[in-house]
Amino acid sequence: MAATVDINDLPTPALILDLDAFEQNIAKMAQYCKQVGSGFRPHGKTHKSAWIARQQLNAGAVGISVATVAEAEAMAQAGIESILLTSPVVGPEKLDRLINLSGKVPEFIAAVGSKLQAERLSDLAGRRGVTVNVLVDVDVGDGRTGELPGQPALQLAQNVDRLPSLRLRGIQAYSGLSSHVVGFEARKRTSLEAMGKAAETREMFKSSGLDCSILSGGSTGTYNIDSEAGLVTELQVGSYVFMDVDYRRIGGKENPQLYDDFLPALNCLTTVVSAAHKGRVTVDAGVKALSSDAGCPPELVGRAGLSYKWFGDEFGLIEAEGDADLPKLGDRLRLIVPHCDPTVNMYDLIYLVRGERVEGAIRICARRGDQASGVELLA
Ligand SMILES: Cc1ncc(COP(=O)(O)O)c(C=O)c1O
Repeated sequence: MAATVDINDLPTPALILDLDAFEQNIAKMAQYCKQVGSGFRPHGKTHKSAWIARQQLNAGAVGISVATVAEAEAMAQAGIESILLTSPVVGPEKLDRLINLSGKVPEFIAAVGSKLQAERLSDLAGRRGVTVNVLVDVDVGDGRTGELPGQPALQLAQNVDRLPSLRLRGIQAYSGLSSHVVGFEARKRTSLEAMGKAAETREMFKSSGLDCSILSGGSTGTYNIDSEAGLVTELQVGSYVFMDVDYRRIGGKENPQLYDDFLPALNCLTTVVSAAHKGRVTVDAGVKALSSDAGCPPELVGRAGLSYKWFGDEFGLIEAEGDADLPKLGDRLRLIVPHCDPTVNMYDLIYLVRGERVEGAIRICARRGDQASGVELLA
């Protein structure tokens, strides 16, 4: 049997998952979806972990969403049987891998955002004797990927439907612009407007006799808007498993000050490595340990009156307000991560922690940097 490891024995900076909080998040989303009669297909881009995907499926998820072919491959290798690739893939190398997955995974679905992509996919799949399930990616306002709602999306769907090796299953519509709108009522207005375009497009598909049994979309910020309005058949919620500072500041339906529907389960454990200056100490977690893209610093867990300031690649600064006690040299602190997805992508492992005890670790899969076939790895 493995020896019991105390959280204080971990090398820092370390990414740790508070299992009590995580289990509550998993159960809460599952119960909510059951109660409102919505499916959910959590987004694996948040955690990049087959172990977490399995917990979500055990709680009732209909399948897993992924953002990259490499994530899909990792989930498939772990035996996940229903996978939706939400990003359009156009290049030949990735299309080839996508078709491999379609041939292996019992239900593999690809988002398709253009006629060119659809034609390439069908052509390659046909040569391999595979049929690929497809959702038409509808751009509901982000301007990121996909075809415009209404007639352009309908036309793409009709093209998909005519191609011999594709099987149309419905629509994917993600409104990233809605997910982090501050204030529940403002978020609701934005999301209903965006997702309403997807719902109207779905009606057009149906009137034209096209299969549109799936409408996949939504986010942690809008889960209780899109589902209650009956706008999606499955929610692509990602961040709810971990939460982060960027989400906590948007405000919730019940608590306008703090979005606390889900608990901040993912923390960065850091150590005070210098206390030479009055009024502040230095910790060993900087921008290489915590993604800073969200524009907000991490927050300390259970240490009111202390705040974090960015202090370069390797370090952060902890300052005390009022008469709050500064931590001492060697002390360990837990930080709520500013933005969970890109922070996870910086690590190889997440430690699973209950209280002060480390119960195990999980591997983060499919971080960027796939080796292209034919290119020699020199070191
Ligand atoms: C296509 C897609 N669906 C769903 C999500 C999940 O969003 P969230 O983490 O806000 O729940 C994302 C996040 O970026 C996404 O890109």
